[in-house]
Amino acid sequence: GTQILEYGPIEGLPALRAAIAERFTDTTGRRFGPENVLLTTGAMQGLDLVGKALVDPGEMILSQFPTYLGALDAWRPRMPRYERLDWSLQAPGHEAALRQAKFVYAVPNYSNPTGVLVPQDERAALLDRVEAAGTWLLEDDPYLPLQFDGPAGPSILAHHAQRHPSGAYAGPVIYLGTLSKSLVPGLRVGWVVADASLIATLALAKQSTDIASSLLTQAVALEMIESDFEAQHIPKIVATYRERRDALCAAAATHLSDWFEWEVPPGGMFVWMRAKDGAIDTDALYTHALAENVAFVPSSVFDPSGALKSAMRVNFTRSPPEVLVEGVRRLERAVRRLLAERPGRAA
Ligand SMILES: Cc1ncc(COP(=O)(O)O)c(C=O)c1O
Repeated sequence: GTQILEYGPIEGLPALRAAIAERFTDTTGRRFGPENVLLTTGAMQGLDLVGKALVDPGEMILSQFPTYLGALDAWRPRMPRYERLDWSLQAPGHEAALRQAKFVYAVPNYSNPTGVLVPQDERAALLDRVEAAGTWLLEDDPYLPLQFDGPAGPSILAHHAQRHPSGAYAGPVIYLGTLSKSLVPGLRVGWVVADASLIATLALAKQSTDIASSLLTQAVALEMIESDFEAQHIPKIVATYRERRDALCAAAATHLSDWFEWEVPPGGMFVWMRAKDGAIDTDALYTHALAENVAFVPSSVFDPSGALKSAMRVNFTRSPPEVLVEGVRRLERAVRRLLAERPGRAA
């Protein structure tokens, strides 16, 4: 009826909250109830609300680095400081940093921008330290569905749930999910899964942001999930994206490997190319790339200080293989133009 056009509950469409909670109960073995779920306007809003609810100026976020530009943008008004999360947990002062951190921010599955899949032992070790330090861990997981080379394995939330299986979930992991990468970004449907009292705090923060997410789009999302459309769609996009990843990496091996190195990402949307040549500044390269009608994202935007200038994020999911190959040829020309500008350097 017309109820779908009214303001909805702040926490989201009850049936969709229940469906998301059930999904986590099924995949982790611990009970997640609707009270553990806040539906958001994309995972992006989850990032924003966590900043709004948890971070005061000057507080520290211990973050995977380089990290998602959208998170840095969401938290900039909160004026946090950043320290770098070292997954090996070996860096001097790491224990103290964990104790001081308002939260740890990580994208363990096929990170944006690097495409890295964090190994399970490192996830478990980080969770040990987070539990000991008594801080929050924000696990941002939009790329989970895009697994090209085998399963990603359990989320950090699942690790916690398996360690503490009794009762409804009440742990330090704040998990962000979304339909943007598996189905459609335009629906703007995402979710936060967390301790029920934190969900209540985030819901209060959401009220003053947008009152509630659209019930209409949440109802569409529910139908897509319940009709199994998501489950049928994912294998198709995974096959398409895997072919695109391989086309990009093969073309780059031919045209760019004199100047850049990279790992083939086991999932996600990006190849993170690091310059081997200290003369390559990817902010400067970007201008030449645009002149060749090709684009990438320079590394400086993924660094809170803007100082990282030696890498670039290259997307492979939006274009078919032949366009990616042409794009790589253009990037090669852009690199040659950049190097030709430098006195004494052969292109
Ligand atoms: C790491 C990360 N988090 C969150 C988001 C935002 O996703 P959504 O479209 O659900 O707001 C993105 C989108 O690119 C992302 O890469």
